[in-house]
Amino acid sequence: MPVPFFDIKRQISTQKAELLRGLEATMDSGAFILGPQVEAFEAEFAAYCGTRYAVGVASGTDALLLALLAAGIKAGDEIVTSPFTFVATAEAINYIGAKPVFADIDPRTFNLDPTAVEKKITKKTKAILPVHIYGQACRMDKIVETTKTYNLALIEDCAQATGAEWAGKKVGSFGLGAFSFFPTKNLGCFGDGGAVTTNDENIAKQLKILRNHGTTKTYHHDLIGYNSRLDALQAGVLRPRLNMLDGWAEKRRNNANKYRSLLKGADGIALPYEDPSGKHTYNQFVIKVKDRDKLFGYLQEKKIGCMVYYPLSLHLQKAFEYLGHKKGDLPNAEKAQDEVLALPIFPELTDGEIEETASAIKEFFKK
Ligand SMILES: Cc1ncc(COP(=O)(O)O)c(C=O)c1O
Repeated sequence: MPVPFFDIKRQISTQKAELLRGLEATMDSGAFILGPQVEAFEAEFAAYCGTRYAVGVASGTDALLLALLAAGIKAGDEIVTSPFTFVATAEAINYIGAKPVFADIDPRTFNLDPTAVEKKITKKTKAILPVHIYGQACRMDKIVETTKTYNLALIEDCAQATGAEWAGKKVGSFGLGAFSFFPTKNLGCFGDGGAVTTNDENIAKQLKILRNHGTTKTYHHDLIGYNSRLDALQAGVLRPRLNMLDGWAEKRRNNANKYRSLLKGADGIALPYEDPSGKHTYNQFVIKVKDRDKLFGYLQEKKIGCMVYYPLSLHLQKAFEYLGHKKGDLPNAEKAQDEVLALPIFPELTDGEIEETASAIKEFFKK
């Protein structure tokens, strides 16, 4: 039987009545741009993340861009970040004319290596932008310490890690948190959406101005802003979905444990490393495989959904050629790009589908 990599329809079918009520509440409010549904979601999302404020924006990419702007990042500034991430992380830095400076990753977690980060700091560095990749928090104790030592801003890319924790604190509560509600994320909406979290009242105010054309008072614009508001219809969907988020994360964690017991000791693969100081939310369950492309092809032939996140580290992408990197510059990221394989992990995956995926992997290495 085919195993889907991700199937949002299964989740929606368990929640349809509630989701329709959420959409209806937005329609009944008559407010589609900002308004009560967006405000209610922002308050609920901030409470969930353990921050004082959350500001809804149009996407995770915009969340990063507006967070960087609100933190005062300007053209020419250097931002130390991960090369092993979705392109949006570094795109957002470039939109401002700032420069992404890539530091290598920890090969166990695929997250930024705090020691590598420190080595990349120069007089021009203004911020660190760690990415909580696959749903696992970075080593925030070390990263926060570095931002304090060098007086740097901290912007967390939380797109893949809503609800993940480091030392009992949710991601997005250490610095400015940039979240994505893209449909495949743990908290996804029905299109594009995002949010920025912060504990700083002035930054929250600035974010609200930036996302709404720089408006301080109707038709008064103090700065050049953006059209980047979270849709009220998306807020109507996100509110009931936020209530389910922890339950879904638990199911993802259970699925991960099932893979672990089925694949324990299996030849040819390394199971994902869970940092004991954090709480992994498994947006992705990523194994390391020496013969990755062959296994990837084999699983595809068997109609078992799997994905490679990411086949080419950002420092080697054409779009970032101008940074002057060459192969060998960031060896851990380069090794990861050749070895990673994400298996289906979504909450509604059945035990049978997990077993089928695990046996296909074992079968491949027996041949
Ligand atoms: C790590 C990371 N950063 C940023 C983004 C951008 O989010 P969005 O697609 O909502 O713009 C994504 C999502 O795709 C992501 O995975």
